[in-house]
Amino acid sequence: MVTDTTAAERILADRARYVAPGMSTPKLVVAHAEGARITDPDGRSFIDFAGGIGCQNTGHRHAAIVEAIKEQADRYLHQCFMIGVYEPYVEVCRRLAELSPCGGGEQRSILVNSGAEAVENAVKIARWATGRPAVVAFDNAFHGRTLLAMTMTSKVKPYKAGFGPFAPEVYRAPAPHPYHGISSDDSIAALEHLFKADVDPSTVACVVIEPVQGEGGFIAMPPDFPARLHELCRKNGILWVSDEVQSGVGRTGTMWAIEQYAGAEPDLTVFGKSIGGGLPLAGVTGGAEVMDAVPAGGLGGTFGGNPVSCAAALAVLDTVTDPAFLAGARELGETLRGRLDEIAARHPRIGEVRGLGSMLAFEFAERSGDHAKAVVDAAFERGLVLLSCGLYGNVIRLLPPLNIASDELDEGLAILEESLGA
Ligand SMILES: Cc1ncc(COP(=O)(O)O)c(C=O)c1O
Repeated sequence: MVTDTTAAERILADRARYVAPGMSTPKLVVAHAEGARITDPDGRSFIDFAGGIGCQNTGHRHAAIVEAIKEQADRYLHQCFMIGVYEPYVEVCRRLAELSPCGGGEQRSILVNSGAEAVENAVKIARWATGRPAVVAFDNAFHGRTLLAMTMTSKVKPYKAGFGPFAPEVYRAPAPHPYHGISSDDSIAALEHLFKADVDPSTVACVVIEPVQGEGGFIAMPPDFPARLHELCRKNGILWVSDEVQSGVGRTGTMWAIEQYAGAEPDLTVFGKSIGGGLPLAGVTGGAEVMDAVPAGGLGGTFGGNPVSCAAALAVLDTVTDPAFLAGARELGETLRGRLDEIAARHPRIGEVRGLGSMLAFEFAERSGDHAKAVVDAAFERGLVLLSCGLYGNVIRLLPPLNIASDELDEGLAILEESLGA
C-alpha cells in the first residue's frame, strides 16, 4: 500500500489517539539523539537548544554516562534503598556532600525521582527541623506539578487553573525582577511586609527560591539578594531552600548557581534534571543538623535513587566537575551572551537578554506569548528545538548542552535569528 504519511505523522496521530491531551507535546518526534542533535524517525535532524527541559547539560548520550548505565544494568537494577543498601546511592550522596553549597557542617542527602518530589521533601525536612508549618515561595517560581509544588508555583495557566484546592500554609512574595521594576530592596521590603500582614515569621519553616528562576523566565537573582534573604531567614529562624533543579549541575558555569553569590549558604539545596544525565534522579542536600531531624521512615519512596540513575549521576558528576568542562561552560556562556546581545541589537522586539552563565534567555517586549510561539514554531521548521517560558510565555530560553560543538552552536543561533523574523 502506498502512503504519504511520514513515520513522525503516524506516531503523532497515535499520540493524539492514545495519550491524554493534558500532557502537552510539540511536533518533534525523536528517534535518536547524540550530543546536541536529535534525529526524527524520518531522518530529519534538529539542533537541540532544549535538552529535554534542561536535563542534558552533558549532551545526549554522553559516552561515559551511557557506559556507566550499561555497566550498572549488567549488575543489578531496582532494589529500593529501603530494602537493600547499594553503593552507587551512597557514593552519589558522598559526592554531593563534597560539592554542597549549603552551610551546617557534615552534609547529607536523600535521592528521589523528580524535581517536584525533591521540593516536597525539602519542605517536609524543613517542617520537621523547625516544627513550623508555613512556606514562603516567590512570584515567577516554578517548583513542579504535585500538589504542594504546584501550590508553590506561580503561574495560573496551565499549571494551577482547575487543579485546586491548593495546599495550605503557602505564602508568596515578589522576587527581584529588575527588568519589570522589582529590585532587591522591593523584594526584601515585601517579605518584611508579608511577615507583618499575612504570616507570623515564627511559623515559617522555610523560604524556597530558585537562584535563577527557570520557567519564570531565566531571572537571575541580583548579586546582593541571596545574602540579604539569608540574613532575613537567619533573623527569623527560617530555613532557606535553594531550588537548583534547573540552574544546577554546571548550567551557570559553576556546579551550583548559588556559588556565584557572596555570603549566601542555603540550608537545603534541591537538585534534579541534568544530574541524572538523562535518567530520572533528584534530591535534597543539606547540613546534618537539618537533615538529621526527620526520624527513620519519614522520607523515602520505592524508586528514589534507582541504581541505574545513580550510576549515571556518578558519571555526570565526574564529567561536570572536571575543571575543563566548567571552563567550557563559562566560555559557552560568554559566547552565547555576546551573540544574543548582537541579535537583540538587530531585533527591537527583544526587550532584554538575561541570565547567568549559559543559563540565558531573552524576553520580548510585548506581554504576550504569540510571537515567542511563532518563533519556536518557525525554528522547528528550520531544524532547531527551542523552548519558551515566562509568566506571559514571551521569553525564549536557551539550554544547549554545555559541551556543544561550536559549529552546532553557530548553526542553532543562525536558525534562531532567521526564525525571529523582521
Ligand atoms: C526550578 C525547578 N524546580 C522544580 C521542577 C520540577 O521538576 P520535575 O519536573 O522533575 O518534577 C522544575 C522543572 O522544571 C524546575 O525547573
